[in-house]
Amino acid sequence: MKKSLLAIAAALLTLGACTTQGEDNKETTASSVDNGQAAIENIMTRTSIRQYKDQPVEQEKIDIMLKAAMAAPTAVNLQPWHFIVITDKQTIGLLSGRQPTNAPLLIALCGDTDKTTMPDGKSKLPDFWVQDVSAATENLLLAAHALGLGAVWTGVYPITERTAEVANVLNCPSNIIPLAVVRVGYPDEAPEPKNKFKEENISYNKFGGKKE
Ligand SMILES: Cc1cc2nc3c(=O)[nH]c(=O)nc-3n(C[C@H](O)[C@H](O)[C@H](O)COP(=O)(O)O)c2cc1C
Repeated sequence: MKKSLLAIAAALLTLGACTTQGEDNKETTASSVDNGQAAIENIMTRTSIRQYKDQPVEQEKIDIMLKAAMAAPTAVNLQPWHFIVITDKQTIGLLSGRQPTNAPLLIALCGDTDKTTMPDGKSKLPDFWVQDVSAATENLLLAAHALGLGAVWTGVYPITERTAEVANVLNCPSNIIPLAVVRVGYPDEAPEPKNKFKEENISYNKFGGKKE
């Protein structure tokens, strides 16, 4: 498994999270290599990691995680976000007062409301930035896992007090709204991924409809 996950990471790095043309001129993506098996396995085996080794995360891996985050879909492709990479121990402490952590790296994923204007230049999109930045956050978690790192999403927005606290620590202007702070590091625990699949959460065609 490790080899295939590394293949995804390498693909992300070299392709810039894009596609390329193979020798036979067919489009090649990370998932076309093995029918998506490695990507699905990466999704299914990700789990929140909260204990980390005393080992910094390499800049190359930080770059891959940020590329993965920015590969997320966004409404009208506005990409209304900003990412703050935090390795300063004092700042990590200030951001983690309520839930102390030994993570060597935090990444704050923020919405940028200055980037929510529609292409017509007049109207503003409603709060789709929340969904956009959430999609980026999940991409980042998955990239961390694929790179052999452990990570956990800690919620910020829409808790008003917490949002203001994080924005203040990070010196954010009023258009930059922290949605989540992801803690990242080399795992020092190995919890089993939770199986959350429940048939009762699925309907077909209409609410309550059964699978044919
Ligand atoms: C919006 C959101 C906020 C979260 N906030 C926290 C948090 O503040 N502290 C924490 O330890 N985990 C937090 N988590 C992680 C969840 O506890 C975790 O994803 C959930 O228990 C499922 O476990 P899994 O990630 O291992 O599948 C948050 C997750 C999400 C999506």
